[in-house]
Amino acid sequence: MPAHALRLHYGNALAPAIGPAHGLALTELKRAEPVVRQVLTRVERERTEGQHRYRDLPEDQQMLKQVRAAVRRHRPGVENLVVLGIGGSALGNIALQTALSPPFHNLLGGTRRRGPRLFVLDNVDPVQVSNLLDLLGPGLRKTLFNVISKSGETAETASQFLIVRELLRKKLGQKALARHIVVTTDPEQGTLRDIVARDGYDALPVPPGVGGRFSVLSAVGLFSAGMCGIDIRRLLSGAARMSTAAAQPRVRTNPAAMLALLLHAFYVRGKRSHVMMPYSYQLKDLADWYRQLWAESLGKQHDQAGRPVVVGATPIRALGATDQHSQVQLYREGPNDKVFIFLEVEKFSSDVRIPRSRGVPDELAYLQGTSLGKLLNAEKLATEAALVSSARPCLTICFPTVNATTVGEFILLWEAATTIAGGLLNVNPYDQPAVQLGKELTFALMGKAGYAQHTRTLRRQARRRGQYEV
Ligand code: PA5
Repeated sequence: MPAHALRLHYGNALAPAIGPAHGLALTELKRAEPVVRQVLTRVERERTEGQHRYRDLPEDQQMLKQVRAAVRRHRPGVENLVVLGIGGSALGNIALQTALSPPFHNLLGGTRRRGPRLFVLDNVDPVQVSNLLDLLGPGLRKTLFNVISKSGETAETASQFLIVRELLRKKLGQKALARHIVVTTDPEQGTLRDIVARDGYDALPVPPGVGGRFSVLSAVGLFSAGMCGIDIRRLLSGAARMSTAAAQPRVRTNPAAMLALLLHAFYVRGKRSHVMMPYSYQLKDLADWYRQLWAESLGKQHDQAGRPVVVGATPIRALGATDQHSQVQLYREGPNDKVFIFLEVEKFSSDVRIPRSRGVPDELAYLQGTSLGKLLNAEKLATEAALVSSARPCLTICFPTVNATTVGEFILLWEAATTIAGGLLNVNPYDQPAVQLGKELTFALMGKAGYAQHTRTLRRQARRRGQYEV
C-alpha cells in the first residue's frame, strides 16, 4: 500500500469507459510513460542542484520553528488577523482557512474559535476595504495585519499597506505600529524589506527560489494558518509524504506524474479546459488556488528555448452539487473539450441526518433517514456517471477525509504535477512574463516615475475605445 492517503482514480478517463474517440487508450499511457520518466529524472537532478525549491519546504524544520515562534509571539490578545496580499500571496491562505477551519470560523464566539477571525484582503476594491476597516472599528487594537508580498512592490498590497499603516498611526500612535504589523517578504531585498529594516516590523521570509503560487507551504500560508489553530506540522508532513511519492521514478505509482501525464495527453488531444469540481465546501477554495497555479505556471507563449509555442489549458472551478444546477448542461452537451477533475470526500468530518417525519410526501420519502453526506456523494457519482455516458473524461481525487495531512498532500500533488506538466510542455512553470505589461500600464496610469513611455499607447487605446459605443 502506498504511504499517501489521497487516491487518483482515472478509469473514467480511459477508452474502455468513454470510448476511443474521447478516452485514452492504455497503450497511449504506456507510450507516454518514458517521456514522463525523463522529466521526473531531470526534475530530481535539478532538485539536487537547488531548483524547484518549493519541494524542500515540507522538510524545512527551521522554517517551521520560525513560523511557530511568530505565532506564539503574536497570538495572545489578537482577535482579528487581516492578510494583505494578492495572487500567490493570498490564495493559499484562503484555501487553507476554508479547508481546515470550521466553515463559519469568523462567526464563532469565545473559546469555540481556535484563533483570531481571519480576513484576507486580496483586492483593492474600495467598498470591500472601507467596510472591513469600519467593521474592525475599535477592534483595531486587537488586530494584526500580515502584509505579504515577495517582491514588496505589488501595487495592490502596497496601497493597502499604506492605508493600514496610516490608520494604525492615527488611531493607536506611531509606537503601536510594530505590534500590529507582521511583514512576509523576500529575506534580502525589495521595498518592503527596506521598510522592515527601517521601521523594525516583525518579518517572516518568503524563501528564496520559491515563487508566489508555490509558496503556500512557507511562512506565506503557514503563519495565518498557525494563528487560526490549523495544525501546520501535519500539513507539512502530508506534503512531505506526497513529495516522496512525487519523486518515484515509476509513473504508475507516482500520482503527480500520472496526473501530469493524463492532463498532458488530453491537452494534446485538444481537451484544453479542466473543470475542477469539489464535492465539499471545505475544498472549494483549493480549486481556486489550483486555478492560479495551473494557469499562471503553464499558460506560456514561449518554450524553454525561447521558441514560440502558445500553450496552456484553462483551469475552471466549479462546486458540486451547486454547479450541477448551473454548468452541467454545458458540460454534458456542449463541446467535448474538457477534462473533469472531481474532488470527493469519503468521510466528512460531520454529517447531518435527514429526519423521518410525519406528512412527508411519497416523492420525498427516499430522503428520510439518510444523510446530507450520503446525498452529496451520491450526487458526485451521479454527475460523473452522467458525464461518462456523454463520453466526457473524468478523474477523481479521493480524500479519505479532509484534514491537515490530506490537504498538505493535495497541495504538493498539484505543485509537483505542475512542474512535471511544465516539463512535458517544455515551458518554464515559474515565471509569469505576461503579467508584467499590465503592471507597468497601471504604474503609468497612476503616475509612477519611469513608466511614461506607456502613456501614448494608453491614450491611443482610450481614443479608439471611445470611438464605438452604444
Ligand atoms: O505566483 C505569483 O508569483 C504571483 O501570483 C504573485 O504571488 C502575485 O503577483 C503577488 O506578488 P507579490 O507576492 O510579489 O506581491
